[in-house]
Amino acid sequence: MVDLKTTYLGLELKNPLVASASPLSEKVDTVRQLEEAGVAAVVVHSLFEEQIIQESLELDRFLSRDTNSFAEALTHLPEAGKYSLGPEVYVEHIRRLKAAVNIPVIGSLNGVSSGGWIKYAQKIEAAGADALELNLYYLPTEVDLDGAAVEANYLHIVRDVRAQINIPLAVKLSPFITALPHFARRMADAGANGLVLFNRFYQPDFDLEALEVVPNLKLSTSTELLLPLRWIAILHNQVDVDFALTSGVHTAEDILKAMMAGAKVAMTASALLKNGPAYAARLLDDLVAWMEAHEYGSIRQMQGSLCQQASGNQAAFERANYMKVLGSY
Ligand SMILES: Cc1cc2nc3c(=O)[nH]c(=O)nc-3n(C[C@H](O)[C@H](O)[C@H](O)COP(=O)(O)O)c2cc1C
Repeated sequence: MVDLKTTYLGLELKNPLVASASPLSEKVDTVRQLEEAGVAAVVVHSLFEEQIIQESLELDRFLSRDTNSFAEALTHLPEAGKYSLGPEVYVEHIRRLKAAVNIPVIGSLNGVSSGGWIKYAQKIEAAGADALELNLYYLPTEVDLDGAAVEANYLHIVRDVRAQINIPLAVKLSPFITALPHFARRMADAGANGLVLFNRFYQPDFDLEALEVVPNLKLSTSTELLLPLRWIAILHNQVDVDFALTSGVHTAEDILKAMMAGAKVAMTASALLKNGPAYAARLLDDLVAWMEAHEYGSIRQMQGSLCQQASGNQAAFERANYMKVLGSY
């Protein structure tokens, strides 16, 4: 019998498969199905800074009756109703999920600035969340804004959120950071207990007939695994945080690779959205079958076994590999 247990952010998990933040967490029943199919924990879809600000603007308008400035401010925010839950409803949803399932429930806050909205970290904790994932999804497009300022802002937010809560904190990061190892260490110093690599950026497309820029959401495939796989392999044992791999986890082999790179958990959203919550059971069955066939006794035993330091081929992760790959064509 193989031992699938792992730990993540101090939580004891029965296996390394975690449902990543997605609409699957919007319904209590679906989260129950995920639990029945065997996922070890669920990250709830995010509560966005914009949602919280929007609600406080509405309150402001109610108090000041200044309808003009309110209308102006709202044009910069997403349309009301585009997101499924308002902030208080979100917090209540966490409470309901905690009452409905036994697996850990990880709340998710998504924002890019420090401010009053961060107090929702406390509310999510008070609702019973086992941990908080902070998603820093920001695209710097201003020429005056340099990388150091963007990173300082991220660190500032992490410190602010950390100061609000006692539960573990994971930060979901973009891959577009110049010196990721150094930044990852600063994240740990700022109070992050885990790093979730990586945020998947949705690139808008052009509609050539309508001459419009259109949103474009395509689910991932396993090919996207390689970017977080490489970086977790590089960072494992260098930075004192737990790593969660997200992007491209579709098969048991993808989970195994994530573990060997050094991740504590493999998170999946697209595969579950595409195949339904019950697909988690298939992933776990395949995981066990592979481990038995290859005589692995436990997940812990394989975690980090192919990280950069342990792989016996450090150069494979670095520039040297670049020439080799080009030459191999
Ligand atoms: C429809 C959809 C909604 C998502 N919503 C969120 C969200 O609310 N918060 C978040 O941090 N990530 C969100 N994600 C990103 C996923 O959690 C995940 O990181 C990303 O899809 C990459 O993993 P995958 O390859 O398994 O899909 C969403 C993804 C999809 C496809």
